[in-house]
Amino acid sequence: MKISVIGCGYLGAVHAAAMASLGHEVTGVDVDTAKVEALTSGRPPFFEPGLSELLVKAQERGKLEFTTDVSRAADATVHFVCVGTPQKPGEFAADVTYVDAAVESLHPHLTATSVVVGKSTVPVGTAERLAGVIADTGAAMMWNPEFLREGHAVEDTLHPNRLVYGVADGEPGQAAAATLDEVYASILVEDTPRMITDFATAELVKTAANSFLATKISFINAMAELCEASGADVTQLADAIGMDDRIGRKFLNAGLGFGGGCLPKDIRAFMARAGELGADQAVAFLKEIDSINMRRRVRMVDIARDALGGSFIGKKITILGAAFKPDSDDVRDSPALAVARLIATQGGLVTVTDPQAIDNAKKSFPELNYVADTAEAITGAEAVLLLTEWREYRDLDPAATAELVRGKVLVDGRNVLTPELWRAAGWTYRALGRP
Ligand code: UDX
Repeated sequence: MKISVIGCGYLGAVHAAAMASLGHEVTGVDVDTAKVEALTSGRPPFFEPGLSELLVKAQERGKLEFTTDVSRAADATVHFVCVGTPQKPGEFAADVTYVDAAVESLHPHLTATSVVVGKSTVPVGTAERLAGVIADTGAAMMWNPEFLREGHAVEDTLHPNRLVYGVADGEPGQAAAATLDEVYASILVEDTPRMITDFATAELVKTAANSFLATKISFINAMAELCEASGADVTQLADAIGMDDRIGRKFLNAGLGFGGGCLPKDIRAFMARAGELGADQAVAFLKEIDSINMRRRVRMVDIARDALGGSFIGKKITILGAAFKPDSDDVRDSPALAVARLIATQGGLVTVTDPQAIDNAKKSFPELNYVADTAEAITGAEAVLLLTEWREYRDLDPAATAELVRGKVLVDGRNVLTPELWRAAGWTYRALGRP
């Protein structure tokens, strides 16, 4: 099938490559010339395991092209809208202007057989509104939220754990769903559960899922605060409660909390939208979820300062990790960089290292010092803070690392190291939610 993907960021680039790998003819459209050039030459403009291989393979087979010219997508049957919906500056609400612009740009090219499929995370009510915008063309509107995780985006797109189709009532909705079934045919043969809902439910599924995940993380981080106050160990607590399969151990890793381009802004946009709908009380708890999350960053700084004897001034602090999570170069709302900046403003001489995210981090916080090589970054440090749990940092050897530093202070912001091993090698080991 001929498909277009509007917006080629973390979501769209992966979706375009994945759809081409399923055998469709895909045109990826983005307004950013540099991004289009990079993707055309098979170089993803961001780090995502497996994406480069997928891009190259699809382009070799002539199934995938990238362009800034939306008219090249005119003959596509299905148009996926994959643009970003960032937080509006100074507000909680999501900025949907890119979604609106994407649909506007498609509008002149739509016909009665076209299907516009929104994948971006949007405030509930957006699909209904956009269906009105394209109604005059006879094209169908659908909302098909995307649940991919960065770092696992290729796998999550090709083998999703469910597909949700938000459709219009009656026959037009059914016809659009049948078209999307054709697009996803090779995913559906794997017995992937597929649910058909109305527009509002599909939009809310995404927001509710991310709110639940954020709540789970902040719940365990609230327990970490209690563990800190009482001398208990939050990692053991998480293991023990997680053995109850009604609770489950996943997403109960206490530490520096959540960041990235989705969870933080999605819970804020949800609060803003609920307010507009007069249902703000229903999600008022998300304000506390957000606060617990932000408090972890401050607590991390407090623990590090305390471990250094009460002041950062003139001390060399090495921060392991800049990305908001491992296997990603995404630094949007990165907890690690937030901590780095707080320590720098309190007089610490901060060096940040990361296997993939240094270039992006430099663009956001050029004032910090960056060193790509881990050993070089650690050399001479008076404290080492592990803030993003890349495999390389989890595997650090306490004795070898001790040889490099000036002060053997290690603060584990993700609870991924074995305290006994580090203490045995002479380190002062501190962590969030652990004695
Ligand atoms: C998330 C959702 O998981 C995904 O379904 C949705 O489509 C987009 O948002 P992503 O932002 O890629 O995906 O990251 P995720 O793996 O969910 O992690 C989010 C943040 O939570 C990271 O900063 C991570 O470090 C943190 N986290 C995760 C924890 O602090 N503890 C945990 O137990 C799990």
